[in-house]
Amino acid sequence: MRQERTRVAVVGAGPAGLVLAMLLAREGVDAVVVDHRTREEIEGTVRAGILEQGTVELLDACGAGERIGVDGVRHDGIGIRVDGTTHRVDLRAHTGRSVWLYPQHEVLRDLFAWHRDHRTDLRLGVSGVAVTDTGDDGAVLTFTGADGVAVELACEALAGCDGSRSVVRGAIPDRVRTDHFRALPFAWFGVLVEAPPSAKELVYASSERGFALISSRTPTLQRMYFQCDPAESTSDWSDARVLDELQARVGGVDGFGLVEGPVVARDVIPMRSYVCEPMRHRRVFLAGDAAHTVPPTGAKGLNLAVADVVLLARALTDLLVHRRGGAADRYATDAARRVWRTQQFSYRMTTMLHPQPGADPFDEQRRRAEVGHLVSSQRAAAELAEAYVGWPLPAVGNSGGPR
Ligand code: DHB
Repeated sequence: MRQERTRVAVVGAGPAGLVLAMLLAREGVDAVVVDHRTREEIEGTVRAGILEQGTVELLDACGAGERIGVDGVRHDGIGIRVDGTTHRVDLRAHTGRSVWLYPQHEVLRDLFAWHRDHRTDLRLGVSGVAVTDTGDDGAVLTFTGADGVAVELACEALAGCDGSRSVVRGAIPDRVRTDHFRALPFAWFGVLVEAPPSAKELVYASSERGFALISSRTPTLQRMYFQCDPAESTSDWSDARVLDELQARVGGVDGFGLVEGPVVARDVIPMRSYVCEPMRHRRVFLAGDAAHTVPPTGAKGLNLAVADVVLLARALTDLLVHRRGGAADRYATDAARRVWRTQQFSYRMTTMLHPQPGADPFDEQRRRAEVGHLVSSQRAAAELAEAYVGWPLPAVGNSGGPR
């Protein structure tokens, strides 16, 4: 076994791991990132497409945001569609801020390019990643590299950025860990449709047949979702049936309709809320999906992961460079504050827009009243807008490391 050392071992080369390693590199903190997936597998993951303004500003400040300015599309509003009418929530008028439509796999491409240009240490396609020791001064990770060589990597801090099936999370012992979990009784049927956009902005539709969301990927490829049973099988749905169901949910008196085209991809996305507390144990820190899952409505997953690692990069820099442990000691509490607020936002946006199968009529009327209030009150719209564009992120440091 080859013995190696680094300051921070990062498990997971998704958005959380790659942004964390980028922020650490800018601070001159050595890190090694490992992932069992190859770069092609990581970039091939289909995920949401909305970036908060804070996420865009952070990527820009690090020199990884250039393509967002070229290929990303700024959205200043969203449509909430009820009873066949679209009500626009003007994000910019309410908050002075916007969101960007820019798919997650493109963010990953930009981050890989950044890491290549800055010659950071990414080990992809590794196998058998395991945490073999955790202590008050560091941790030890073992894995077999893509070249077949077994490595024992000692680090001063270990960051678990390894997604919802996190291995690193297991290093936080059961006796100190609480797993908060809530399954929702529906899922999303997601499709990619080869067609021009049906609307200029995203449409979140709540209809008697259930929720639907019309989003976009490129001028010729659209991403759409509709609420379905978690046990739904994609093979039971012909293209025509998918498009009819979407049309039925978004159509209405104003004549709005989808531009149709071939369905080129389909998947069923389960809905759950999950938070692991605490997000830190000794020198083990969790960030992103390893620590939490939010239901997809509102597209907070990547943005929340970025918010975690902004705090974590600062905490680790303080701890390892300046030998000050305060921010690291506060990481779990500081990160959890935004995590729970985001949970609340995503949960609320989901339960507000999705009729629950078999809901009692009282709850269903209450849900409709909530949507009715949102689309008729400027204050309610402003509150949604504030959370949708994202709460401010702490500023990122750069103490002379590579830019
Ligand atoms: C997308 C996904 C979401 O969950 C959302 O709220 C907005 C957009 C998307 O995939 O484009």
